[in-house]
Amino acid sequence: MKKYGLLAGALCLPVLFACSESSQTASAAKDVDQKSELEATKASSEIAATDEAKIASGVDYHSFANPDEIRVTHLSLNLAANFETKQLVGDVTLDIERIQPDSNTLVLDTRALTIQNVTVNGQPVDFSMGEKDEDLGTPLSITLPEGADKVTVAYTTSPSASGVQWLTPAQTAGKQHPFLFTQAQAVHARSFIPLQDSPQVRVTYDATINTPKDLLAVMSAANDPTTERDGEYEFTMPQPIPSYLIALAIGDLQFKAMGERTGVYAEPALLDSAAKEFEDTEAMLEVTEQTYGPYQWDRYDLLILPPSFPFGGMENPRLSFITPTVIAGDKSLVSLIAHELAHSWSGNTVTNATWRDLWLNEGFTTYLTYRIMEMIYGHDRFKKEAVLGYQDLENDVAALDENDEILAIDLRGRNPDDVFSNIPYEKGALFLREIEHKIGRENFDAFLMQYFKDFAFKSITTDTFIAYLNKTLLAQYPDKLDAERINTWIFQSGIPEGAPHPESDAFVKIDATRDAWLSGETKAVDIDTTQWTVHEWLYFLNNMPASLSTEQLAELDAAFSLTTTKNNEIAHSWLMIAVENTYEPAYERLYSYLVTIGRNKLVKPLYRELSKTPEGKAFAKRAFEEAKPGYHPLTVRANEGFVN
Ligand code: BES
Ligand code: ZN
Repeated sequence: MKKYGLLAGALCLPVLFACSESSQTASAAKDVDQKSELEATKASSEIAATDEAKIASGVDYHSFANPDEIRVTHLSLNLAANFETKQLVGDVTLDIERIQPDSNTLVLDTRALTIQNVTVNGQPVDFSMGEKDEDLGTPLSITLPEGADKVTVAYTTSPSASGVQWLTPAQTAGKQHPFLFTQAQAVHARSFIPLQDSPQVRVTYDATINTPKDLLAVMSAANDPTTERDGEYEFTMPQPIPSYLIALAIGDLQFKAMGERTGVYAEPALLDSAAKEFEDTEAMLEVTEQTYGPYQWDRYDLLILPPSFPFGGMENPRLSFITPTVIAGDKSLVSLIAHELAHSWSGNTVTNATWRDLWLNEGFTTYLTYRIMEMIYGHDRFKKEAVLGYQDLENDVAALDENDEILAIDLRGRNPDDVFSNIPYEKGALFLREIEHKIGRENFDAFLMQYFKDFAFKSITTDTFIAYLNKTLLAQYPDKLDAERINTWIFQSGIPEGAPHPESDAFVKIDATRDAWLSGETKAVDIDTTQWTVHEWLYFLNNMPASLSTEQLAELDAAFSLTTTKNNEIAHSWLMIAVENTYEPAYERLYSYLVTIGRNKLVKPLYRELSKTPEGKAFAKRAFEEAKPGYHPLTVRANEGFVN
């Protein structure tokens, strides 16, 4: 068990500077001072240069913690979930390591936490809360007695904690029991645990979680599928993980095995359909190991959440959290599983050091996802998914500010939640695909396998990755790769000229079909769609002209029953067209879609489009007000601007 993980994690590779680098976090508080200073002195170029160097070296602008002085290495959680008051109540004991031997102030991140007391060996110690920041929360400074190596913080979470959603029975599939889940990425772990909430601080953890007796708790840790339901659950996570991967869920959950190392947790009503939909997970795990090296995390299970989960999936280690909206009945949306699984390598094993470096997590993962999908479902599906991904990227490049199209994005002073786009995903993946094409697939696979090994259990910056590329591929393939091109990809806006341009023969046919229908040559009922998969449908719909007549929409709807489609992605594309053209027969479905689904990627574009006309906005407002009590705090925040 876990042969590779801990060993690799303990090694410092002299050729790379990942080890020293990960101790360079400076507190955001310090930075705030520096920024105002900068403004005051009108940024002398000298200071600006230091600032650039700080960014490159991995300063985390989204944490107040001081791991460069005192570093937390292990957490012991002891929490009870109170569904009446919607609070987690208990304490956490943090093991600490002194990086600067003479420092005695430990700074933790918190957000909307009530701190009851802080103790060392049972004795109260002094602590103080700093100034609150809207996006980052409040620093908690603790004065440590000399020699202290453990500190316990007793605390209570807020019912509106940004990283916790408390669901009523009505919001679950079974309607009988309440449900709770956490979502820590990017900066929300601090809303349910006081800790050093930076992706460059890795901790092991153990936990005792108390729940109502008839519910089951699961965590991003070792979960025993045979655990008896008794209201008290113990967990251990022996590999060091960044705080954004700490996760907890509690509900009426059952387990079903899918393979030897894979299984699914879900409410009883969804268990069988989920296990069937995702039955290829074990095969995905195997091909990914063969291509990129051993899976480091023991088991890989899925947890199916209620539909208010704000993301498609979240790669919590050993237990990915998954939206139920991808259970389509035909495995058409399972690339999401490949994606969360791939994070076990890119993200969970090798981690971005700051949120500026998110593309190291998401771009590599998106690249791996395409490769996994190709290995399991073949080249044609791969090509179709690559074209659809490329179109998402093109749309974002057309819509976003130039600075937000840069892989190594400058997030100083910004909330990472507000900057979510396809750039780190699809542009990151396209960059890697270009390298693959230039040096050959086999060579690139070997490189990635070594990369995951060299940086296992490390948090790295973009600049560390570039330095690694310089020492490896750029030295090995000087005729095929060059540093300037790499810099263009990472530091410039847009899609570089000459980038790979995915194509699919199947889609060429769809273009012809669409054209024939648009010109009136073919009637919708005469289009043979029997062989179409979800990809053909999405490509057919997503590339319709901006404006269609009510007659045209009614014709499509009559031929293909689009308004009542069960596939949530197809429904999304169709509803976008309906809103763009005010096709009213689809508005009842639109309303129920907005009210029952909380996955931000599916609802946000609809709210944005609706908000463009006064009537649309009024409709959006009605749906939003009804949905709001059931939406996750992140979905509320992302959409309230469109209806107010
Ligand atoms: N880790 C992300 C979700 C995330 C990213 C949460 C940044 C908070 C901040 C997860 O792996 C993800 O990318 N989910 C996507 C999946 C899709 C690209 C297949 C999603 O939820 O849509
Ligand atoms: Zn991801």
